[in-house]
Amino acid sequence: MSALDALVQIIANGVKDIQAKSAQRDTPYPTQDTPLGPESERLQSDLAAEAAPVVAAAWQLIATLKHPQSYLLDLAFLSFLSGSLSVAEAAYVPDVLREAGTKGLHVNDIAAVKNVDAGKLGRILRYLASRHIFEEVTPDVFRNNRISSALCTGKPVQEMLGSPIDRWDGTNGVAALISMTGENNQWGNAWLAEHLLDPATGHSQEPNEAAWQRAMRTKLTVFDWMELPEHALYLRKFGIAMRANTNAAEDAIATRGFEWASLPAGSLVVDVGGGVGNFTMALAKAHKHLRYVVQDRHAVVKEGEQLWKANMPDLIDRSTVQLQGHDFFAEQPIKNADVFALRYVTHNWSDKYANKILSHLRDAAQPTTKLVVIDHISDYMCRDSGTATDIPGAAKPQAPEPLLPHADSATGWKYSMDICMMSVANCQERTLGHFIELLKDAGWKLERVCRFEPPLPQQLVCSPL
Ligand SMILES: C[S@@+](CC[C@H](N)C(=O)[O-])C[C@H]1O[C@@H](n2cnc3c(N)ncnc32)[C@H](O)[C@@H]1O
Repeated sequence: MSALDALVQIIANGVKDIQAKSAQRDTPYPTQDTPLGPESERLQSDLAAEAAPVVAAAWQLIATLKHPQSYLLDLAFLSFLSGSLSVAEAAYVPDVLREAGTKGLHVNDIAAVKNVDAGKLGRILRYLASRHIFEEVTPDVFRNNRISSALCTGKPVQEMLGSPIDRWDGTNGVAALISMTGENNQWGNAWLAEHLLDPATGHSQEPNEAAWQRAMRTKLTVFDWMELPEHALYLRKFGIAMRANTNAAEDAIATRGFEWASLPAGSLVVDVGGGVGNFTMALAKAHKHLRYVVQDRHAVVKEGEQLWKANMPDLIDRSTVQLQGHDFFAEQPIKNADVFALRYVTHNWSDKYANKILSHLRDAAQPTTKLVVIDHISDYMCRDSGTATDIPGAAKPQAPEPLLPHADSATGWKYSMDICMMSVANCQERTLGHFIELLKDAGWKLERVCRFEPPLPQQLVCSPL
């Protein structure tokens, strides 16, 4: 069978399987016209593993069918898609169209809300519609489809206009992350080649000497920059954006992987670099028998306090959850933690700095303390990774040829995130072998890996060496 035939067969069989499983649940698999709703969203999440090889095969089919030059040009130009999404979010288009309903709205009226040039906004929305985000119903009249609806905050547009900085509060973080990705993250992207090829900067492992700093003409790290008073909107957006990847899967995060439920009552979980507390919130909803401390920079803790008071005030009042300002490059003040959790933290730092964070935790650990590192694990794109290990959960099944061995990883945004990390702070996503070495150097032994379906991050459970 030719590679083309094999790809088509993977798609045909996969779609048949997905439809059969949807029929068993009496829920048709959603199309672009299906409004977002809990049932169809759950179905899509539950069938993500079945959809993964189909999506991978569809991408590979496109790569196979297209002329190489046109394939390259198509992808290279996609950076403008990211910018366009950011414009649509900043002009409140998804929520304006939500309020307009299924008949849609003329671009003149959409643009008037935030005083954007209607001709330019129309072209941006048309570009997005060409990629299945929004629908152009009649010339210059747009409405939401299933995908663009996912960008809605759900707030009244009048309220958003009154207080733009509050527009992501209480949301699932998707609009915040899309906005951040379309602007803040792109600034470094534009300078990446110049920065990496400059011998004076290209080898730096410093968090304040990346392409992003070159673009922004600053020596501040992204975290320091966001805390300047004039960047308050970015700080707020960042905290909420961290929920986007995992919000829909809070149950899975809290009930699968590390055995939070089996920790004795009163055990102390310290969420280090926990941001505004998104991860702890998922745990605290499911495991009320535990105590939690969320540590982060002082400015972030202040943001977090507002969030907890608005969403789970009882837990803060009862001191089940405490928010604590702490610099994770300083000595860890909590010496009796049962678990240290580090979610999306190691990927923000090059090895030199990640080692410091992990070493401080090791110094504060009891022999029984566990460390749970929650981050993406990069797969090699070849079939023999050369990292044979008998660590439970380390081995990952490979997709059949002609698909890439880890087709699920390749189609998501894990590798984009890796380059994003490189461009904003000279940091990175890591392979499993890299993690094992990093952890060992800081005095931790990787005991097991708890696997989650992408785009959820993986859990690396460690003990003191
Ligand atoms: C990518 S975010 C992840 C936040 C959170 N763990 C989550 O998953 O939602 C990284 C966090 O590290 C925090 N951070 C950066 N530098 C820090 C430092 N020196 N000490 C403590 N936290 C820091 C940032 O403020 C940010 O909240």
